[in-house]
Amino acid sequence: MINKKEKIYIGKAKGPINIALIKYWGKADEELITPLNNSISLTLDTNTFYTETKVTIQSIGENKDKIKENNISLKINGNPSKITKRIKNIFQKFLSLDYPICKELSSFLLDIKIESINTFPIASGCASSASSMAALVLAITSALKLDNILSKTELTKIARLGSGSACRSIFGGICEWITGTGDNSLAVQLYEKNYWDIGVKLIIVNQKEKDISSSEGMKITKETSELFKYRIEHIVNKHLENLKESLKEKNFNSFSEIIIKDSNNFHACCRDSYPSINYLNEESDYIMKCVFCLNKLYGQNICAYTFDAGSNAFLIYENKNKKIIDNFFKYIFVFDDINIDDLIKLMEIKNIENNKNEINKLKMSKPPKEKIMNQIDFNLGDGAKILYD
Ligand code: DP6
Repeated sequence: MINKKEKIYIGKAKGPINIALIKYWGKADEELITPLNNSISLTLDTNTFYTETKVTIQSIGENKDKIKENNISLKINGNPSKITKRIKNIFQKFLSLDYPICKELSSFLLDIKIESINTFPIASGCASSASSMAALVLAITSALKLDNILSKTELTKIARLGSGSACRSIFGGICEWITGTGDNSLAVQLYEKNYWDIGVKLIIVNQKEKDISSSEGMKITKETSELFKYRIEHIVNKHLENLKESLKEKNFNSFSEIIIKDSNNFHACCRDSYPSINYLNEESDYIMKCVFCLNKLYGQNICAYTFDAGSNAFLIYENKNKKIIDNFFKYIFVFDDINIDDLIKLMEIKNIENNKNEINKLKMSKPPKEKIMNQIDFNLGDGAKILYD
């Protein structure tokens, strides 16, 4: 029996992953999770990869001592140890808001249960923290019936407390996370998902948990890398400005050049850290080589690559070129249902014999182990969503 003081609030939500085109790497404030630079990302659809989260908040009596920081007891499925503090910060942020339900709950002892499922490999550079924290924030919003009250912009500020990149998964389409002033750091939507018909192919080469988490990695880089100082002072703002320009013009050639350069620069900063950090592997290097070869055959960029803190590649292209990109990678990674002549025909490139040789040379130089596990295609999608039963 639940008495008057024991109330239950339940909410459910789904969160998408996002892939950064201009990377967030390095915090201005570790506690507030504010970034040293703005970042821009694509929010991906939730057809295959997403986090679904159910949150159950039960008030179990008065918080007589009024020790607000300790009024929450958390039960989380999965591995809670590393993230518990950040999740508590999210709840405390909700409780500090100036709404009757928040004020009421902050004077109670709360038992909170979080049940969530991820449909993709965790901690392999596939942005699982972004989708899970975005889903959590929406689930709490729904549980507390604040969905028509809190704006998405407000929610980005709260999601940031769970994991920086999560703030960009609240909105769909193309988003920017603004450094802001302290507490006020937030994400905005630059373009909605139909603005430009962009596709994303994730090539999974490794499903193992990464050795160094993004949070640890960016701390080491900030503390030790000279190259990173140069990135923050001279590179990243130029990349942001140029990317926005190419987005405005829908100029894929320059868009992809900037994406590739920002990914390269971010990974170079990781390498320059002391101790050195390397999120990439032989397969990642090979995929980069493939993208350069493909773009060279065309004489312009039709495909970009980018890697987050992991070895899995995200390829970005205009969907009008998707078939070419699909078949090129099918041929390279030995799927027998395509031969070189069909590929060349599809690609409509001149200088056939030379180009056949180039592609076959590339195919032969593949890393010895067949580690390319899976390819998953995405379109741009909507942001995190509340699930109403
Ligand atoms: C390489 O958002 O996972 O994916 O804020 O410490 O939780 P925390 O880090 P996180 O870092 C993401 C880093 C990145 C680049 C990006 O998504 O912008």
